[in-house]
Order: sequence, then C-alpha cells, then structure tokens
Amino acid sequence: MKSKPPLPVIGAMLVSLVVIAIATWIVWRNISDAEPTASNRVSGTTTTTVNIGGPFSLVDHRGQRVSDASFRGRYMLIYFGYGYCPDVCPTELATMGSALDELAGQAAAIQPMFITIDPARDTPAFLADYVAQFHPRLIGLSGTADETAQAAKAYRVFYARAKSGDTDDYLMDHSSFVYFMGPDGRYLTLFRRGANAKDMAAQIRRLMAAGTAVQSKS
Ligand code: NI
Repeated sequence: MKSKPPLPVIGAMLVSLVVIAIATWIVWRNISDAEPTASNRVSGTTTTTVNIGGPFSLVDHRGQRVSDASFRGRYMLIYFGYGYCPDVCPTELATMGSALDELAGQAAAIQPMFITIDPARDTPAFLADYVAQFHPRLIGLSGTADETAQAAKAYRVFYARAKSGDTDDYLMDHSSFVYFMGPDGRYLTLFRRGANAKDMAAQIRRLMAAGTAVQSKS
C-alpha cells in the first residue's frame, strides 16, 4: 500500500468525478431524448434514428485490422474502457460475459467486443490476455489515438486521462455503457452501468426475437 495521497490529488480526483458525472448526464440526456422503444422499431411506425454507432477501424487482439463492416450480419455487444481500470470496466465486462453465458446458443449470433480508450497501455498483446479473463469470444480492439477518438465519437463515449502526477500509473475517466447493435450495424439499445446479467440477456433475447420477426415478414 502507498501512503495516503496528498490533498491536491484528492481534490483533482473529486474534480474529475464531477466532470464524469456531468458528462455522463449530458450523454444520457441526449440518448434518452432520442431513444426509440423496441416495439415501435419493430412495428416500423417510427422514423426516429439514434446517432449511436458508426464507422470504426481498429486492430483486434490477434493483430488483424477490422472495421465495423467486418461484423455485419452479427449483433455487436460493445463496451469501451481500459485494461487497467480497477473496478468499473472489469465489472461491466464480467456482466457481458455472464449475459452471453445466459444466452447460451443464441450468443453465437453476437460478437462481444471491448474497445480500449487507453491504447498506449492496452496493446493487442495485453488485450489478448485481458479479454480472455471475461469470455472466450470477447475480442479486444485498439487503435491509434485518432482511430480511438473516431470510434469513441461514433458511440458518444467520453474519455480523458485523469489528472495525476504519475506518468505510468494513471487512471482514465470514461463513460460506461454497454451498446447492443443490430446485424445491420444500427443501434438497438444500451445498458447502463450496473445492469444485471439476467436482465441484459432477457432484453437481448427480446430484441433478437423482434429482429427475426421483422426479417421473416419482409
Ligand atoms: Ni473503467
């Protein structure tokens, strides 16, 4: 254990917590204003489009270049975070893993992915070990600073390096949502921090069933 952090560090941490809270609230307000329900999507009576999701080009933990288009035809379950995150990211990734286990065979149609917002430390080699802790099918994606910014912007993810004197052992502030995207790459829903795996699986199952119903009608 290190000695107690000095007061300026605690002050900086409090400031960054406030910044995260405000940023999360702004993102959430924008999303909830525009969020369509699953039922009106399915009935086709809404023209609401939610601007979450979009193009990205990143490298997976095996070193392969992939883009959003690489996953067309599959549902995507996406989380943005960083490997050194002490609590929130591991919790959310574990929830995703449990939800996929809960979905059993249906999970085969879903590609779970972890997109790092800290590519300086989360190299593909690091991510290979990291993602394996949560689910055998979870892939870890990283990119350059620009590629990371582009992916985060598409999903309206807020992230910033927390102010601290330490150059290597730093924390990242970031918003925390799990995004569920359709086989066409379009936004279906998101799960807030602290969502429970059973509820996540149940909602995913409903959305997948609704999607299948729409496909077989057309
Ligand atoms: Ni985190």
